[in-house]
Amino acid sequence: MASNVTNNFFTTTLLTWHQVHNNRTMPWKGEKDPYKIWLSEIILQQTRVEQGLAYYDKFIQHYPTIKKLAKANDDSIFKLWEGLGYYSRCKNLIATAKIVAHTFNGVFPNTYDGIIALKGIGPYTAAAIASFAFNLPFAVVDGNVYRVLSRYFGINTPIDSTMGKNEFAKLAHLLLHKQQPGSYNQAIMDFGATVCKPKLPLCNSCMLIKNCKAYNHELVQILPVKQKKLVKKNRFFYYIIAEYNNKFYVQKRAAGDIWENLYQFILIESATSITINSNTQFNAIHQLIEPENYTVKNISTVYKQQLTHQTLNGQFIYIHLSKPLKQQDYLLLSKSSLMQLPFPKFITSYLKDKNVSLNLL
Ligand code: ADE
Repeated sequence: MASNVTNNFFTTTLLTWHQVHNNRTMPWKGEKDPYKIWLSEIILQQTRVEQGLAYYDKFIQHYPTIKKLAKANDDSIFKLWEGLGYYSRCKNLIATAKIVAHTFNGVFPNTYDGIIALKGIGPYTAAAIASFAFNLPFAVVDGNVYRVLSRYFGINTPIDSTMGKNEFAKLAHLLLHKQQPGSYNQAIMDFGATVCKPKLPLCNSCMLIKNCKAYNHELVQILPVKQKKLVKKNRFFYYIIAEYNNKFYVQKRAAGDIWENLYQFILIESATSITINSNTQFNAIHQLIEPENYTVKNISTVYKQQLTHQTLNGQFIYIHLSKPLKQQDYLLLSKSSLMQLPFPKFITSYLKDKNVSLNLL
């Protein structure tokens, strides 16, 4: 590990960079309200700062305090979250809001241990809240921090290994400015996002260049190292948009898979791709609807969505029913009721393409 001199240079240079050169503005910067910091950090786990801004503003407008968030109904919160993905994070957000509102009378815990005990809060988020809101000396370790530290110190231990995680966490803590942990944490994350960027880092204007191991040994494009290659699973979704008397059948997705608690149309999932035309015989549909009780009105193009671990492929088959479904496990809703519900982005993209007009056919 590097010497104290190098470490001090790293820490003080980063803080100077932050005070003098960092012009990244974000509404939650300098914020002391732990509720707002928590909300911004949970949103930023899901998306880039540019996209996260609109979500943050929407949440703060609707729910300016954690008590207001705790009182809201779950579907309205999921509706605001719509498009961000990883809906289990939204479920945890709701659970944590309720615990803070009801058990702690709306007062966010002010210790690291109290914060990390909350649902959906891991070491990164706990350190961010503890340092930004309460100036407690906990170092954040996110993708930016892995990149900056691995490059500056020339560390090639894989960041997704247990050994790597421990090594980087220890080093991050060592480097943390103990009197100004919030500013230091903000500095290293912004530095990673704007100077020590993944693909095209701004090495020529970097204040740390003289001691940067990666720069001096031509390892900038190699570091940080990851050990695992991501294997992506392909999934094929066929949504049946079944209309009966200007109403549509939908259901809430169950636990244990992506999009828990969001709504969807009747879904047939297949392990392989199916070429669909109006004569396609869907045995799975026929278990729900007898062939003489529906007519196919439209078949969409194939939609794709890339998640971290899966590639989703899907098509929408719009049918008219001449009789209602016998099954009780679907809701039959008008278009206006339907539009109040949270859907996965996959489905909202289709609805947008159709101009939110489900009776266009
Ligand atoms: N990414 C997540 N939280 C951040 C923050 N507070 N500053 C910069 N980047 C971030």
